[in-house]
Amino acid sequence: MKTFVQGGVMALALTTGMQVGADEAANLVINGETEITVRTEAPEHLDNLSKIYSGWIFRSDETQALQMDDFDNPGMIFVDQGRDAWAVAEGSEGKACADCHNEPESLADARATYPKWNDEAEEVRTLAMQINGCRTEQMGAEAWKYDGSDMLNMEALLSSVGRGTPINVAIDGPAQSMWEQGRDLYYTRTGQLDLSCANCHEDNYGNYIRADHLSQGQINGFPVYRLKNAKLNGAHSRFKGCVRDTRAETYGVGSEEFIALELYVASRGNGLSVEGPSVRN
Ligand code: HEC
Ligand code: HEC
Repeated sequence: MKTFVQGGVMALALTTGMQVGADEAANLVINGETEITVRTEAPEHLDNLSKIYSGWIFRSDETQALQMDDFDNPGMIFVDQGRDAWAVAEGSEGKACADCHNEPESLADARATYPKWNDEAEEVRTLAMQINGCRTEQMGAEAWKYDGSDMLNMEALLSSVGRGTPINVAIDGPAQSMWEQGRDLYYTRTGQLDLSCANCHEDNYGNYIRADHLSQGQINGFPVYRLKNAKLNGAHSRFKGCVRDTRAETYGVGSEEFIALELYVASRGNGLSVEGPSVRN
């Protein structure tokens, strides 16, 4: 048992070692054919980690297995729903995604590069923002709710066709200042527990916090099907839950702060594979 003490307050009790049969040495191959990089060298910009790991390797054998075959992966139902929506014409232009992008597979590289600077809009766009950009600007349709089910289904579809592609988020050029904002947020301690993202996901990954096996908090697997709530979950909703666990006020889903945080956290996974929809507890 290892405890760590912050400012005189015993913030958390962490335990080291294996408890519930997570196989950290396992490899992920989906449907016997798509090889997923679940561990690799850390990108150069990370000073405190030498290796990066997908959250998949910290899950139990049973949870790991659910992601190895699309018939067992409960997230794939939502990919099918996304594929249906892909072909539906909407908005004043009477267009569907399919009219301009043909098959979703034509966007197989997209998931790996978002969040990404958009020159025309002069902003960093998450994948959700880009999808809504197409809906409002190209289709004349209403924006989907951020982290709502329509949006998550479409993100799951675009992730599924990109599985195996190495995450490759640009952190220089016009995106750099937002990336730095995200990095600051990542290392800022919040809440009554006075903890930053890094205190849990950088300093203590591999340890247990109560019954939970701590991962590095990577987002290469998003959107994530969680067994806990039996639905797809977006990265911002996950950030919100984690901030709330430190007993802090949290930023909103789709907020500028969470967009910056997503850009930074995504870049911490540069080199891991796109894996979504992944399965977690
Ligand atoms: C009327 C044509 C049109 C429709 C309909 C349309 N898009 Fe697009 N989409 C574009 C254009 C043009 C771009 C390139 C714009 C750019 O790169 O800034 C684009 C870019 C994208 C990208 C970014 C690709 C990348 O590699 O960065 C994604 C993702 C995307 N669209 C998803 C969708 C989805 C999902 C739908 C349906 C909800 C949709 N689009 C509907 C025209 C369309
Ligand atoms: C008190 C510890 C703690 C803090 C602080 C914390 N998290 Fe988490 N986080 C967890 C636990 C526990 C889980 C579930 C197990 C896991 O995947 O690590 C989790 C899961 C995640 C996941 C899901 C990973 C996956 O593969 O599905 C992401 C992403 C994440 N956290 C990001 C963050 C970010 C960003 C911050 C800072 C805003 C943060 N966390 C702060 C404890 C924490």
